[in-house]
Amino acid sequence: MRSYFDRCPKSLLLLLPAFFIGCASALYSPSQQDVTWANRNGISTSLSRLREGRILYVQTCAGCHNLPRPEKYAPQKWPKLVREMVREQDVQLESRDSTLMVEFLRVASERSGTP
Ligand code: HEC
Repeated sequence: MRSYFDRCPKSLLLLLPAFFIGCASALYSPSQQDVTWANRNGISTSLSRLREGRILYVQTCAGCHNLPRPEKYAPQKWPKLVREMVREQDVQLESRDSTLMVEFLRVASERSGTP
């Protein structure tokens, strides 16, 4: 008897990895210019902190819904949005990780339109 898997077109399976890579690369990647901008604008951070924040965001926040684009919300909204997910959706997040994530989201929200 043929299983459901047998009927799934192989070509679609081959496309899956490309799809995921495509999604990941669409999310803003911080650069050294962002660090300079952030430190001038009252967000004390570093490139490694922003990169870690980005990874934490992808790993923690993509489980239940699509990852909201950082620029969908103003920078100052992000601390509250992250807190709400922790309180209301029981998202597990250490306080240090939450700080790094919010740093990334604030910077990415403000800077994602910048080349
Ligand atoms: C356990 C499941 C779960 C996880 C994990 C989760 N969320 Fe959510 N999130 C929800 C649900 C359910 C809603 C819709 C209900 C609401 O708005 O409260 C939502 C809505 C949102 C919204 C508003 C709608 C939108 O798409 O713009 C934002 C922003 C958001 N989540 C951000 C986050 C962030 C940031 C994280 C990681 C810290 C996260 N979520 C992790 C369940 C989750």
